[in-house]
Amino acid sequence: MRLKNQQRLEYRGKLILAPMVRVGTLPMRLLALEMGADIVYTEELIDLKLIKSIRRKNPALGTVDFVDPSDGTIVFRTCSLETSKVVLQLGTSNPERALAVGKLVQSDIAGLDINMGCPKEFSIKGGMGAALLADPTKATDILRTLCSQLDIPVTCKIRILPDPLDTVKLVQQLAATGISAIGIHARTRDERPQHRPHPDVLRAVARAVDIPIIANGGSRDIHTYEDIYKFQSMCGADSVMVARAAQLNVSIFRKEGVLPMDTVIDKYLRLCVDYDNAPHNTKYCVQSILKELQETPRGKRFLQCQTLQQICEIWNLGDYCRRRQQELKHQGNIGRAGVLPSQGMSKRPKLDIVNNLSLEQTSDKFEGVITRNMAFLRSTYANDNQLPKTLLYVHAGRMGKEPPDYETHQNDKLFRSICGYDGQRYSSSFWEKNKKQAEQGAALVALLQLGQLREEALSDNGSLII
Ligand code: FNR
Repeated sequence: MRLKNQQRLEYRGKLILAPMVRVGTLPMRLLALEMGADIVYTEELIDLKLIKSIRRKNPALGTVDFVDPSDGTIVFRTCSLETSKVVLQLGTSNPERALAVGKLVQSDIAGLDINMGCPKEFSIKGGMGAALLADPTKATDILRTLCSQLDIPVTCKIRILPDPLDTVKLVQQLAATGISAIGIHARTRDERPQHRPHPDVLRAVARAVDIPIIANGGSRDIHTYEDIYKFQSMCGADSVMVARAAQLNVSIFRKEGVLPMDTVIDKYLRLCVDYDNAPHNTKYCVQSILKELQETPRGKRFLQCQTLQQICEIWNLGDYCRRRQQELKHQGNIGRAGVLPSQGMSKRPKLDIVNNLSLEQTSDKFEGVITRNMAFLRSTYANDNQLPKTLLYVHAGRMGKEPPDYETHQNDKLFRSICGYDGQRYSSSFWEKNKKQAEQGAALVALLQLGQLREEALSDNGSLII
């Protein structure tokens, strides 16, 4: 059976963005497609997290979001531009859970892939990833359940086993479940990225089974578009999947040749802004592109950034970001900033989702507090005398007022302060990494409200989020 209006994904002759945790989020997937990839895999998403997520349309962004109801984070965000080309990779050790996720997401994706190659402790302990290589009964059980009950193609991604004959046998068992293709990382579970891959093993597997083989593991020697196909050909594979070479420069998928790093970052950041990508995720991906260039003065400035606006300023996209964020706000974007941790923070906090906005239930503590969404960036202040707390303290002295006081609230590892001053209370809705920064953020809001700082001046150096 096939979902209405959905063409079944073809896995032969394809150039594929490999699954990569933190890298394979929506902006990078869209950029990979723009650059020439035919299929894009998501980062590995864990079944337990997806099962409890809520599917929600975000009309302002044109996306479908799967949202964690406990804290409002976006577990998976996708959009129609990729629906026929995106494969969601799942981390699972349980057929029923995998099926529940499959049913939840199948109308929004083109294929479902099961991770059977991840050697990380977290996966192995949970019976997921490479643990499934040692448990073919469970692996085939999961795949058979999905293939028989989902309307979309199912695949898995494995690593080779130490013995090539065992690898062939395993792939034959997996292929018999009805999967549409298999991705094979040409290294064993214990081999690291710097080790040479084993294309000869993939060649032997490709001869032994009929389903499409997707070769993976060649990035060590992939520097050009042509290198990708050299690797595929060495493996005798039907398709090829690239991870690290694409993480470094996703324009590796471009037939006409790779683009300069800054062009790639520019394109990537625009997509991050367009799809309101989380700043920490954006930062991670840009860091992966910059690599050792993080040591340059511009790289160091970049490392200080906490918001998308601040990152964009560095690549001269400040205006673009500001304009687009304003537009999205007016269109009612359900932003991360409006989704804040809830009261009590017992084991499973709840969010109120009212009129598309999640309201913080700690609001009693912040009731009556004048709040703006501000980040405090230490590097934008030349010396201590210009810090918001200092300026506010000086202001109090000059006006003959009591000095400001601060009350800080902690949530998990994040902090928000309320600055009490002259009968008013001020706070930034931006959760900071430590108490000092949270106090500075609150003082910044107070100064702005009191007209002691000009917003334009702040936005120039990127410390103001609009
Ligand atoms: C990975 N890899 C990976 N594999 C997978 O099946 N699911 C995942 O979520 C991830 N996450 C991930 C993150 C990052 C940052 C890297 C670099 C790699 C492994 C990846 O898909 C691939 O199998 C290997 O990197 C080998 O391919 P390359 O890099 O030689 O093309």
